[in-house]
Amino acid sequence: MTDSPAPSPIGPQSADTQDAEVLRERAVAALLTARERTTLLTDSVDDHELTAQHSPLMSPLVWDLAHIGNQEELWLLRDVGGREAMRPDIDGLYDAFEHPRAARPSLPLLAPAEARSYAAEVRGRALDVLGSTPLGGRPLLRSGFAFGMIAQHEQQHDETMLITHQLRTGPAALSAPEPPGATDAAALPAEVLVPGGTFTMGTSTEPWALDNERPAHRREVPGFLIDTAPVTCAAYRAFIEDGGYTEQRWWAPEGWAMVREHELKAPLFWHRDAGQWLRRRFGVTEPVPADEPVLHVSWYEADAYARWAGRRLPTEAEWEKAARHDPAAGRSRRYPWGDEDPTPERANLGQRHLRPAPAGAYAAGRSPSGAGQLIGDVWEWTSSDFLPYPGFAPFPYREYSEVFFGPGHKVLRGGSFAVDAVACRGTFRNWDLPVRRQIFSGFRTARDA
Ligand SMILES: [Fe+2]
Repeated sequence: MTDSPAPSPIGPQSADTQDAEVLRERAVAALLTARERTTLLTDSVDDHELTAQHSPLMSPLVWDLAHIGNQEELWLLRDVGGREAMRPDIDGLYDAFEHPRAARPSLPLLAPAEARSYAAEVRGRALDVLGSTPLGGRPLLRSGFAFGMIAQHEQQHDETMLITHQLRTGPAALSAPEPPGATDAAALPAEVLVPGGTFTMGTSTEPWALDNERPAHRREVPGFLIDTAPVTCAAYRAFIEDGGYTEQRWWAPEGWAMVREHELKAPLFWHRDAGQWLRRRFGVTEPVPADEPVLHVSWYEADAYARWAGRRLPTEAEWEKAARHDPAAGRSRRYPWGDEDPTPERANLGQRHLRPAPAGAYAAGRSPSGAGQLIGDVWEWTSSDFLPYPGFAPFPYREYSEVFFGPGHKVLRGGSFAVDAVACRGTFRNWDLPVRRQIFSGFRTARDA
């Protein structure tokens, strides 16, 4: 996904109207949860680290912080609230389309204290606007969409900031409890069958779904088998040890070129020491855990592994059918486990744990097909290019999704431990370049039935 540009509203979209008070409470809770996370990610390092660039792939954390406030000001204060601009002078600095990430440290950015107080001031006024604005009428306000969009935007930057934390060097700045273990992993089949037939993909009713998830439409998907859990580090290590990175035949041509150019030998953050594979995770070096889903692999690596295993990546439609289709009811559900929101028993979301849970965990989160950990843990690469659904209409601005459609970006599904529930649904679509490795990406494989 991308940083967001300035708003240029267009087009209507369909959405249910819900009870205004329930929507307001939901919006307030989502905004507060996001700010709690932003505060933790930015208070856990000093001002020097906040303003430093830890990788040319990322913005300084202080840029994300003020950008979060600026987007909230543009949408919730100026657009929804009709308020006068607080800081029109900084709009350009925080326009993601104006300045690539690598150039952001050289901009005259707000200092950490200024960025904090700006974001806090915007938030106070945004809550006033939320309390006094009817949620309905304009498409942007229907079901409180604008507030949900801004909460999702902040959470998406919280995920981006967590990637920056992973890329930074130095001692650990973050800590979290361990995720739950897998209770019945040994008894689980390696793959599950999803019979052929049509299913409903995408949504026309989820109130805070983004434009690229819309509209709901029927898809014919032939029968296929899909891994019960994401591919583990142990399985991926077998690929490495079988010459995965030295044999061209497993790789797409661009992937092989990437392996050669960057001398890739393993997932990002892995290294070998005295015959053992170690990895660095948020400032801690530890043995690679065998039963944890593999993380920080590019699409090319996922694709090569699948070919080596005599399998393939699932298409995006296959992934969503495995996750949402309920054959007994003949309909698609919001999540693999049903229509209820995620809970800590169902999925590893929200940076509650700073790693994926072992393969086979979260039995309560499995889909009717029997596949588990589809939501949370690791983003899952699919074989599909990021393309619009039939009937797609850009909303609320073209730069949210439309400019990224095409063969350059591959779709990832299901969210990771770094994603909050507000920005993770059975229909949610993420996209990125096939070379990306610093993101919290893993995969599972599939084959034709
Ligand atoms: Fe953004």
